[in-house]
Amino acid sequence: MQKDHILQAIALQIEAEIDRGISIWIDPAWNEPASSFLARAASSPRSSGAQSVRGQASATRSKGRQIPAARSKGRQIPAARSEGRQIPAARQAESRPSFSPPPPATGRDRDWKSKLEKLRQETLACKKCPLHETRTNVVFNSGSGKIPLVFVSEAPGANEDAQGEAFVGRAGDLLTKIIAAIGIDRRDVYICNVLKCRPPGNRNPMPDEIAACSPYLARQLEILKPRVICTLGLFATQLLLDTKAPIGKLRGRVFRYLETPLLPTYHPAALLRNPHLKRTVWEDVQLLRKILDGGIKKAGIEIQMTESKPAARPIPQSGDLFESS
Ligand code: URA
Ligand code: SF4
Repeated sequence: MQKDHILQAIALQIEAEIDRGISIWIDPAWNEPASSFLARAASSPRSSGAQSVRGQASATRSKGRQIPAARSKGRQIPAARSEGRQIPAARQAESRPSFSPPPPATGRDRDWKSKLEKLRQETLACKKCPLHETRTNVVFNSGSGKIPLVFVSEAPGANEDAQGEAFVGRAGDLLTKIIAAIGIDRRDVYICNVLKCRPPGNRNPMPDEIAACSPYLARQLEILKPRVICTLGLFATQLLLDTKAPIGKLRGRVFRYLETPLLPTYHPAALLRNPHLKRTVWEDVQLLRKILDGGIKKAGIEIQMTESKPAARPIPQSGDLFESS
């Protein structure tokens, strides 16, 4: 293996670990060089990504899965990438995009709300995996789902377990700002997790738990019929796309879950640990908003994939991206 390949492989592994919330830096002196290396790795084009992810998706597909695999014809489209431009603070406000009201949901059954409520009641009584023994509350979702945009993440943490609502802790505050950065009130979207009960000590979800719980998520998505899904972090992304590829390879590209466009990005907790990832997520959610508003075709994303580079536009510096103005 060449040195560059080894470094790239290490970078991808580190990204995946960060995304799963594992703190890896022991010596503070490593932080700066490691962060800038990761930032470079995250923004460098990965031309072979689409092929290799597709290959892995089919290689890891197994019989009897609860969540159908991503369609192989699902397109994988590189998101806009920044050039690491620095722009003066005074210009940042100007560069904030303005948004028109998001589109309403269409195509749902008239009784979608009662269907969701029935499903929620089912999860409240669920004992299909051992997590029911240690939970305080089942965490079914957050938000009304009025706007056809669904965020899917990993599992409830301590705050969510205590309050019975998804994303109410520090990561939740940041997610609120991320959603606000695309002109949307988080109360109007739908936020849910792969697991509805908290893994003790915030450990990673286990395969058996995911297998037991994922039918609830599949059903939520079926009822909600989102125009676009955004997966936050490794677990939700790998589950819905049926792949083992690292999040750094998947984020910012558009896939499909069944017929629905799906855009993976980093978990907000990863951003709390690594603020340099905010710029990348900001770019990802701008793309998410375009898909929400106009679908893949109208957003011109197919054209970007095949021939043209994204139009140059100023990108705010990380750290200020999700502050409310
Ligand atoms: N992290 C998650 O993945 N989900 C939550 O609901 C909260 C934190
Ligand atoms: Fe049931 Fe899911 Fe909770 Fe396990 S995590 S007990 S499958 S609701």
